[in-house]
Amino acid sequence: MDRIRIVGGEPLVGTLPISGAKNAALPLMIASLLTEETLELHNVPRLADVGLLLRILGNHGVDHSIAGKRPGQTAETGQTIRLKAGNIIDTVAPYELVSRMRASFWVLGPLLARMGEAKVSLPGGCAIGTRPVDLLLMALERLGAEIEIDAGYVLARAPKGLRGAEIAFPKVTVGGTHTALMAAVLADGTTVIENAACEPEVTDLALCLAKMGARITGAGTARIVVEGVTSLGGAEHSVLPDRIETGTYAMAVAMTGGDVLLEGAEPDLLQSALDVLVEAGAEISASNEGIRVRRNGAGLASVDVTTQPFPGFPTDLQAQLMALMTRAKGTTRIRETIFENRFMHVQELARLGARIRLDGDVAYVDGVARLKGAPVMATDLRASVSLVIAALAAEGETMVNRVYHLDRGFEALEAKLGRCGARIERISG
Ligand code: UD1
Repeated sequence: MDRIRIVGGEPLVGTLPISGAKNAALPLMIASLLTEETLELHNVPRLADVGLLLRILGNHGVDHSIAGKRPGQTAETGQTIRLKAGNIIDTVAPYELVSRMRASFWVLGPLLARMGEAKVSLPGGCAIGTRPVDLLLMALERLGAEIEIDAGYVLARAPKGLRGAEIAFPKVTVGGTHTALMAAVLADGTTVIENAACEPEVTDLALCLAKMGARITGAGTARIVVEGVTSLGGAEHSVLPDRIETGTYAMAVAMTGGDVLLEGAEPDLLQSALDVLVEAGAEISASNEGIRVRRNGAGLASVDVTTQPFPGFPTDLQAQLMALMTRAKGTTRIRETIFENRFMHVQELARLGARIRLDGDVAYVDGVARLKGAPVMATDLRASVSLVIAALAAEGETMVNRVYHLDRGFEALEAKLGRCGARIERISG
């Protein structure tokens, strides 16, 4: 298993390109199941999760091709993938594949909408709490699906097709909203999704579905209305920039000090996180090229943050913020409201010298003057990268073990940070 070795203490300076968003690319790829025509996606990040989803889609009969390199492209430039689901040959998504990536469970909605049936294994994915799928199934039931759970599989059937309905989510769910959207676009009649997720990745999916011929209004608000159509066609769409990657590297720069242009980043996608960074002492400016993050000399100030659905502070940046705050002056309070077990990075940050107390869903971080390198273990995707942030500012060497989590979500991490002056290398093994 690969490891990443980091020697801390170098400021980050330079230009760091931001990739396409993993959390948008995955549902967009899944949307290819809704049409027999070609869906061409640009700016798809080169990530393990993308490769795995291609395998899962291939199993259903989706052919794909990846465009060859163009002049000026590097390993850090997103790729163009064409997906064509001419015939769905299998409506079963097996445990061996779905258990490795939670988002692959979302094939359920489009398979059901197009084929009238689907059998999908209950999901796996990052170990961050129980993460049930009851609301996804509720949405499909509202649209007229018959759902049964048997031997770890969800069996969904809609022999007479799905029909439009009102779906009111009792809590905001990104996966639930994606599922409702992808099923409702081919349902008979009008669907109203209430308390829909407003995350930019939902809006990106809705934009792409509209290009495919879907009739959707209100994406990006809490009330989405879908007028079902009988079929969808092909489309071309570019994946939006990754706001979590942007926020992660912005925090890395705030941590080490320095001056980095996050190329291609869009501030509107993460304003709440940028506001927190400014409060903590980073200088942030936006231009056509992206977001520039600077911190020179001044110490970090502590903050008080609660994770919230978009446009609030994202849970996917909570671990990274905690890493940053280990060096802040005073006590930081971080409340996690989205996932109940998302504090697994605390023990590992402690190994680097961080002082963090947990009280239910709140973490109190008492800032320390210095961190010291140590061997640590990555436990989930965002937790892993929080260890990288801490290591960049720790004295001496940190070895981050089990980095396959990082490969699931961060494209060319060592190359991007290395180019900005970090002492970071991957050790294969
Ligand atoms: C997505 C993101 C993930 C992010 C999360 C919250 C992808 C691939 N993943 O995950 O990175 O951290 O949104 O922004 O886009 N819930 C239920 N029942 C359900 C579904 C969800 O109770 O049927 C709960 C969850 O346990 C959690 C909350 O709803 O407490 C939000 O989860 P959700 O928004 O669905 O997360 P994901 O879509 O899985």
